[in-house]
Amino acid sequence: MSKILHRSIHTDLPVAVGGRGIELFDADGTAYIDASGGAAVSCLGHNHPDVLAALHAQLDKLAYAHTGFFTTEIAERLADSLIADSPDGIDYVYLVSGGSEAMEAALKMARQYFVEKGESQRRHIIARRQSYHGNTLGALAAGGNEWRRAQFRPLLIETHHIAPCYAYRGRLVGESEYHYGERVANELEAKILELGPDEVIAFVAETVVGATAGAVPAVDGYFKRIRAICDRYGILLILDEVMCGMGRTGTLHAYEQEGIVPDLIAIAKGLGGGYQPVGAVLLSRRIYDAFATGSGSFQHGHTYMAHPMAAAAALAVQDVVREHGLLDNVVRMGELLNRRLQERFHNHHSVGDIRGRGLFRGIEIVADRGDKSPFDPARKVNVAIKREAMARGLMVYPMGGTIDGVQGDHILLAPPFIVSAGQIDTIVERLGDAVDAAVAA
Ligand SMILES: Cc1ncc(COP(=O)(O)O)c(C=O)c1O
Repeated sequence: MSKILHRSIHTDLPVAVGGRGIELFDADGTAYIDASGGAAVSCLGHNHPDVLAALHAQLDKLAYAHTGFFTTEIAERLADSLIADSPDGIDYVYLVSGGSEAMEAALKMARQYFVEKGESQRRHIIARRQSYHGNTLGALAAGGNEWRRAQFRPLLIETHHIAPCYAYRGRLVGESEYHYGERVANELEAKILELGPDEVIAFVAETVVGATAGAVPAVDGYFKRIRAICDRYGILLILDEVMCGMGRTGTLHAYEQEGIVPDLIAIAKGLGGGYQPVGAVLLSRRIYDAFATGSGSFQHGHTYMAHPMAAAAALAVQDVVREHGLLDNVVRMGELLNRRLQERFHNHHSVGDIRGRGLFRGIEIVADRGDKSPFDPARKVNVAIKREAMARGLMVYPMGGTIDGVQGDHILLAPPFIVSAGQIDTIVERLGDAVDAAVAA
């Protein structure tokens, strides 16, 4: 009997004993294609020799030095490389151990920025429904996923939520995608005016929504409008690219495809590709300058921040992505994955929408594609698809509550950036069989 409090107490998990390329192996010798990179983490697949070598080298040199006493060469090199790859204006990095920590830090940075500027009355965070920003209390409060929040609501800080940009469900009949985007973006302005423009700190959003909605990009123009509203009222734009960032959508940062630059960006997952727990906040010079000319520090910190082993993993992963031109493969294989999904599912009675960017794709499962009605949540169709996929040697990332936290199901695909055309075909073939089996049951 396991002594671990696992995610699900009544589920028997296979024991993972090894991995190579895009596959993981369990103790019984079964191979699984990791078509979701776990939870959109393993961007280089498993056991990449360059990353292993970098980790061994760092371990032989120095495993840990507390950031209250020292900086390290490896963390400085990682920060230099992340900033070299970021647009003008994004000039500094805060290194942490994962996505929730990155989001907590970003929220607190935004608040302290205004305190330093003498605007300590600013206290409101606005985010979107159907979003996920992490499971620590601040990040959970920002997130808009009802089932994750519900039982912890008494502990959550006050936050405010507007509609997501989710065209498949939200766009009105006869409304253009562009006008739909403007309409939902304008909800931000209405909320700012309701709360009082000089009381708002920041707007928070996933550039491409991941776990809660299933790879939902915004429509054209939406984020430009959001940026303009933030600027008009002097509030900060925090983009959560923990899942969709670091190349997953075909550009290093997903926001590059929106033609905007945010003030704070949270990254994690693909940053270290699962080789070490690592996350970061990328921040604009004006926020750094407010700390530098004000109190002289950001009042925060964790024991393991800027951990040398985590920095070594992230630097090695990002070097491999750059040196092997893997973002080109993300674009090419992403287009192929989209094509294959369309071929397999565009007439499927139980698939209502196929969406995403790069190697970040989602399919939304419906009971009736005509009226888009979802399956009864009690059927747990997404869980059944995951089970059927695992039985076929395929890992996909399922979730329920796609529509409102309760109704709806989707499956997320986020294969490693090294995936080949033949492997894409196998992924879609096995997924198709798994969906058929799950909805027939
Ligand atoms: C968009 C987003 N933000 C934050 C998080 C939290 O990251 P972590 O699980 O590393 O704490 C996740 C995790 O799935 C995520 O998808």
